[in-house]
Amino acid sequence: MDIAIFGLGYVGAVSAACLSKEGHNVIGVDFNDSKTDLINKGKSPVVEKDVDEMIAEAVSKGTLRATTDNRAAIRDSELAIVCVGTPSAVNGNLNLDFVQRVCEDIGEELREKDGFTAIIIRSTVLPGTLRTLVIPTLEKASGKKAGVDFGVGFFPEFLRESTAVYDFYNPPKVVIAASDDRTRGMLESLNADFDAPLSCADYEVAEMVKYADNTWHALKVAFGNEIGSISKAIDIDGGAVMDIFCQDTKLNISSKYLRPGFAFGGSCLPKDVRALNYKGRSLDLELPLINSIMPSNRSHIDRAMQMILDLNEKNVGVLGLSFKAGTDDLRESPMVELVERLLGKGHEIRIFDQNVNLSRLVGANRAYIYEHLPHIAKLMVDEMDDVVTHGGTIVIGNSDDRFSEVVGRLNDSQRVIDLVRIENEAKANGGYNGICW
Ligand SMILES: NC(=O)c1ccc[n+]([C@@H]2O[C@H](COP(=O)([O-])OP(=O)(O)OC[C@H]3O[C@@H](n4cnc5c(N)ncnc54)[C@H](O)[C@@H]3O)[C@@H](O)[C@H]2O)c1
Repeated sequence: MDIAIFGLGYVGAVSAACLSKEGHNVIGVDFNDSKTDLINKGKSPVVEKDVDEMIAEAVSKGTLRATTDNRAAIRDSELAIVCVGTPSAVNGNLNLDFVQRVCEDIGEELREKDGFTAIIIRSTVLPGTLRTLVIPTLEKASGKKAGVDFGVGFFPEFLRESTAVYDFYNPPKVVIAASDDRTRGMLESLNADFDAPLSCADYEVAEMVKYADNTWHALKVAFGNEIGSISKAIDIDGGAVMDIFCQDTKLNISSKYLRPGFAFGGSCLPKDVRALNYKGRSLDLELPLINSIMPSNRSHIDRAMQMILDLNEKNVGVLGLSFKAGTDDLRESPMVELVERLLGKGHEIRIFDQNVNLSRLVGANRAYIYEHLPHIAKLMVDEMDDVVTHGGTIVIGNSDDRFSEVVGRLNDSQRVIDLVRIENEAKANGGYNGICW
């Protein structure tokens, strides 16, 4: 393909080197002429393993050249890949000036140009940027329609500086959002040789994935550092701790505990996070990340509470009281807290949880409920139907298999707040919702 790459920083220079090596005709564009001069002399504008040699070879073969002329570059290409910078503004927001400017230039040239060109954003942009800035800017400047007269795509970049060429050929995943099949096809063919999972997504999902990734990476670094710091303060080798931690690919380095849903609870997580918080405090250690976990969990319960209150239904049916399905352990269940708060607001509540069914409970758990939660014990019913017929709002609190059938059985006026996302798609009416999906 004839490909134009806008922005010859780390992402653009590496992409230009790799795509020209793959046999594409590449024209690199940057308004910084020292960068374009370097490329035209066969040199890399960034320090990155192998890129110098690749650029030298591509320039000598004639498959790569560079220019400062945005409009000329778009004239000669069928695919335009935008890798301009998106730096932080002073207030922390993303500065999209470079993206906007390059889209204006590209759009103006598209106005004159016959034939189809796909404009692909690789710069990291906040969710909504394609739909509210990129596409309107291109359409306004070109007088043409995205997805019809020209293509638009978002194709986030996951490379890491210092291993960028390796990462280009070995991406952890490929994520594509496109305005039309032709643009999607071009991006798929660009990635056809890579052994990586490919996801086609909406613009906003693809945009958000990049932020979830980088925030996760930052969170991992901060977590490792805080565990290391507290370990060191009590004379433990934090490296040895994290080596063993990382060997656990079932619960730790895995997709477990990462689905958006409801707050954590139970007899272990809150207690142990609190104990580590206390240990840090007693050592005069600043552990802002670990200290923020309990407040984050509380905010999540607050969001659930607010969502239920917003529905303004006196009768609330609760399906699932324990912190997860398959246990009768009610210690620190966030559902218990939610129910207590709803009671305080005067709601009429009925609760069904087959694992906490009082008529079947024996021994310690029965005693626990009657001693500690007598106000809740009174609200429990033996049949799920008693909850379903009672509630104007039904709250699903854990992922017991039986609860999914309820969603399809409700009448139009009933609302479901599913805190655990028992169904991927809404089965019932539009009144099926969660707090973080
Ligand atoms: N650096 C990374 O490791 C990395 C990895 C993945 C994604 N990203 C994202 O990719 C984007 C680019 O990152 P980078 O590190 O390569 O940035 P960079 O600052 O190194 O390079 C950006 C280049 O764009 C040029 N530019 C700006 N406006 C232009 C315009 N209108 N026309 C032509 N050129 C223009 C600048 O002169 C600069 O050379 C950012 O959004 C970044 O968040 C970066």
